Amino acid sequence: MELKKEIAKRRTFGIISHPDAGKTTLTEKLLLFGGAIQTAGAVKSNKIKMHARSDWMEIEKQRGISVATSVMGFNYRDVKINLLDTPGHQDFAEDTYRTLTAVDSVIMVIDCVKGVEIQTEKLMEVCRMRNTPVICFINKLDREGRDPYDLLDEIEEKLNIQVRPLSWPISMGKTFKGVYSLYNKSLHLFQPSKSKIEDTGIEFNDLNDPALEEHIGERDAAQLREDVELVDGVYPEFDVEAYLRGEVAPVFFGSAVNNFGVRELLDCFIEFAPAPKSRETEERIVEPTEDGFSGFIFKIHANMDPNHRNRIAFIRVCSGKFERGKNYYHVRLDKKFRISNATAFMAQEKENVEEAFPGDIIGLYDTGTMKIGDTLSEGEKGMYKGIPSFSPEIFKEVINKDAMKTKQLDKGLNQLMEEGVAQLFSYELGTKKVVGTVGALQFEVIQHRLKNEYGASCEFMPMNLYKACWISSTNQKKLNEFVESKYRHIARDKDDKLVFMAESRAWLTMVQDNFPEIDFHFTSEF
Ligand code: G4P
Repeated sequence: MELKKEIAKRRTFGIISHPDAGKTTLTEKLLLFGGAIQTAGAVKSNKIKMHARSDWMEIEKQRGISVATSVMGFNYRDVKINLLDTPGHQDFAEDTYRTLTAVDSVIMVIDCVKGVEIQTEKLMEVCRMRNTPVICFINKLDREGRDPYDLLDEIEEKLNIQVRPLSWPISMGKTFKGVYSLYNKSLHLFQPSKSKIEDTGIEFNDLNDPALEEHIGERDAAQLREDVELVDGVYPEFDVEAYLRGEVAPVFFGSAVNNFGVRELLDCFIEFAPAPKSRETEERIVEPTEDGFSGFIFKIHANMDPNHRNRIAFIRVCSGKFERGKNYYHVRLDKKFRISNATAFMAQEKENVEEAFPGDIIGLYDTGTMKIGDTLSEGEKGMYKGIPSFSPEIFKEVINKDAMKTKQLDKGLNQLMEEGVAQLFSYELGTKKVVGTVGALQFEVIQHRLKNEYGASCEFMPMNLYKACWISSTNQKKLNEFVESKYRHIARDKDDKLVFMAESRAWLTMVQDNFPEIDFHFTSEF
């Protein structure tokens, strides 16, 4: 009974956006409404800005900040909200993808001036993979933005999801008056304020009430009536079930920096965003309400102090109740061990945790036994699925610069890869090691951290590679033949899985045509 109640009151979600759309600002306002912070400006921006020369201090600082702000738990009304932060910088997209595997839903922030941007599209593809329910928040209505209908069309087209506005803006930019909530039938009048959090919603069941003119003037009242009629005519009624299936995204308008539209967003969010759901392991579907504890690691964060190799492994609880001090089973290592030290993240504070429930994220202090994707359970063997690696986009060969420090280099590389900083591919032929990343910044981070934390020096040599494709076949003989014939292009990933390193798109297509029995995959989970 207790377990069911705890699950029902949890909402675990992430905010995603293209950089600068307002993710950090919205995060902060949500915490403000949840009473988790008292003043605006308390959440440090967790974004790495590119400088002409990379600023190492900045990266180090960000690593520190991102532990503090990786997970923010707070209570709003009687709901326990777990907000997972995702790095906005595209070079850290892989980290964002993994974080999204640990959430039950997503709020997507879109800048009303810029519309749907490239990073938003990429993130949406990841949400699609798991049919994650998405709520859109169109931000910066205090600026002269694009026409709301255009924005909605663009979301439908570029993000390939149906939309259903649940609020509607009354003008925009300098003449922005506020929003009308189509969901609660109330009028919210805009007053620019960076710190005020009480909202003056006015119930307005009948938009034909002449009082509307008094609030927003004749012209805007007429426009609003017309818009609401059109919206209700064009878009089908909001269907919560379709939202939960990831087919329809409810849309809200507001201005995060002015605390405007945030409360309606939050109120609707707690009302219909999903509580923790069932999840799939290699063996079966696990329900959150099951008694046995289980969870998986989706993020590992290295300690800031290079003298201590402690790391924090972030685990998402999927079923049962986690209790500190109990022995849990590490599926990959086939070993039980006692967890005596676990951390919960409440707002910006870290605190020791005695127990945790499905949907919660806890941090475990780790000295090297955890890898991203690991499952902990009470004895059951199935690993949780859905934490794939994606084919990287940039590949470079690792060149050891100090033969005396080969061991340190290997150790450092392995540990950084376990943290998920990048992916390492070891060629079957010879000893060539290749690091693959989504962005260029990681190479600098790796080089810097190898030197500082492991005393190893290396260089990276650019390689002309198009994709790393995980390969499989139902016909083992054919797979062996393929590996033999292409042995110079075959490598192994961190889990020893076979990978074909394709040099160009054209060549890959040719190879695919020539070897129809071989399946080529762009993610490690298939
Ligand atoms: P991000 O995390 O998605 O990258 O975006 P962030 O919240 O840092 O916001 C990016 C910029 O947009 C910030 O300005 C922020 O103040 C501004 N912003 C956020 N919400 C609104 C809004 O509703 N209206 C307007 N007009 N601006 C908004 P900045 O100049 O980059 O930083 P700052 O000096 O203001 O902090």
